[in-house]
Amino acid sequence: MNENGKTKVAVLVSGGGTNLQAIIDKIQNGELAQIELVKVISSKEDAFALERAAKAGIKTAVAKEQEDVLRELETSGAQIVVLAGYMKVLSPEIIKNYRNRIINIHPSLIPKYCGKGFYGIRVHRAVLEGGETESGATVHYVDEGVDTGEIILQKKVPVLEGDTPEALAARVLQVEHEILAKGLAYAAEKLQEA
Ligand code: GAR
Repeated sequence: MNENGKTKVAVLVSGGGTNLQAIIDKIQNGELAQIELVKVISSKEDAFALERAAKAGIKTAVAKEQEDVLRELETSGAQIVVLAGYMKVLSPEIIKNYRNRIINIHPSLIPKYCGKGFYGIRVHRAVLEGGETESGATVHYVDEGVDTGEIILQKKVPVLEGDTPEALAARVLQVEHEILAKGLAYAAEKLQEA
């Protein structure tokens, strides 16, 4: 907790940042009033997520190497780290230093369509190729594996007749925004209890 009783959170991004935006919006509308975003760290300098952060007055950094990510996290004073469309695998050192304090949003119903190679639109393509009738999103803690950490919550969406990967992605994204905020609130509460 910081001086004002809020939990300090850093968000790691690589792309458009709609999940980051959902967190920003929910802090502003009071649904995540207990959270303070202390830094947004991007693996890419041209990620639109950086513009969203700057517009909301949040500090930003670009860090391509894991030692730079760790340094940025340490200087930010973040207590919790959110991976919101972060397309890299974190180093074991970061995992160790932030054990049970890193959460990730994944666009499928883990254990299905997750792990190495399953990210972004590839996930939705595979779900359609697999003939699934439902998909969804998962918020989970991050451990040394890829998408293997303890699940915090999931929400399903239907796969509809004639779905394209893009249409399915958009439907899943809606529930991502909802459950990422809930998962973050849960992780922050757990941390304060500890
Ligand atoms: C989201 O669908 C997120 O779940 C996914 O990338 C997208 C990022 O969108 N993450 C992964 O696939 C990680 N394995 P956003 O930048 O608009 O939040």
